[in-house]
Amino acid sequence: MARVLIVGGAGLLGQYACEEAHRRALEVVATARGGTPSRPGVSWRELDLRDRDAVRGVVREAAPDVVVNAAALTDVDGCEDHPDEARAVNALAPEALARACRETGARLVHVSTDYVFDGTGPADETTEPNPLGAYGRAKLEGERLVLAADPSALVLRMSGVFGWNRVSAKTNAVTWILKMVEAGQEVRLFRDQRITPTYAKTGAQAAFDLADLRARGVFHVASRDCVSRLEMGEAVVEAFGIPGARLVPVVMGSVALKSRRPPAACLVVKKVEETLKRPMPGFRACLEDMRQTR
Ligand SMILES: NC(=O)c1ccc[n+]([C@@H]2O[C@H](COP(=O)([O-])OP(=O)(O)OC[C@H]3O[C@@H](n4cnc5c(N)ncnc54)[C@H](OP(=O)(O)O)[C@@H]3O)[C@@H](O)[C@H]2O)c1
Repeated sequence: MARVLIVGGAGLLGQYACEEAHRRALEVVATARGGTPSRPGVSWRELDLRDRDAVRGVVREAAPDVVVNAAALTDVDGCEDHPDEARAVNALAPEALARACRETGARLVHVSTDYVFDGTGPADETTEPNPLGAYGRAKLEGERLVLAADPSALVLRMSGVFGWNRVSAKTNAVTWILKMVEAGQEVRLFRDQRITPTYAKTGAQAAFDLADLRARGVFHVASRDCVSRLEMGEAVVEAFGIPGARLVPVVMGSVALKSRRPPAACLVVKKVEETLKRPMPGFRACLEDMRQTR
């Protein structure tokens, strides 16, 4: 693997993918829309995924060995308001990428989500998806279109992706909690939604390691711990040693959400652990790594 194209290099996972690729001494081309951030060792291209010809064009021009698609419309409620855009970005653009990869011989690593499930219990790769909203439906369609267009593609499902965003002020499940408690604000957290949060660093490492092994098909990539949003808050407060934090347990039913959330879409990570021959990290170990890399 010599040259990698990171689609959505300015997003959270995309940033960690750029960093991981750079660490592995790969030549890195990355795409972003609306301005390209400055990052060491990355050559940027502007790309809006709604333009499928441009999607194909960037793959042909960059001629990568591996493409990591870390871009998506990730605003779960926003996808309910803009289902056409959700489908264009989360389903049709990945299909265009997969076609371009098949034509050029590049290996595609496409990233998907635990929201393809209804969250009635832990899900492994054989569990039947049943998305509850427009985001999950578009992402599921994306998975299927990708694998139909390029059966050798990898589809990595992740859950509550978190880490340091060095490019924009956009927060994630962990940095939002940190920002709130460090500002002395009360943090209302669901006690009835459980996830297996994916540290973006874990996701990026698994993407390259699985691509190196020429793995194909669907893999769940997440931490080993199935935790409620409230338990995540407690772990964050403990890991960062924040005194006097005010975490308030709430239930999902008490909040007006446009899109229903899966209550327990915890991802079983046995397959990726067996394939990579190493355990996925626990949530607290990931937080400790974040603390050390702040
Ligand atoms: N976030 C989560 O909790 C979560 C959970 C499970 C799975 N995932 C999956 O993990 C992957 C990475 O997510 P993330 O958390 O890193 O997301 P993120 O930080 O929201 O980054 C997504 C990136 O996609 C870009 N994007 C959106 N629409 C675009 C378009 N039309 N053209 C070009 N770029 C576009 C965004 O650019 P702009 O900033 O310009 O919009 C952003 O840079 C996604 O596949 C997501 O579905 C995420």
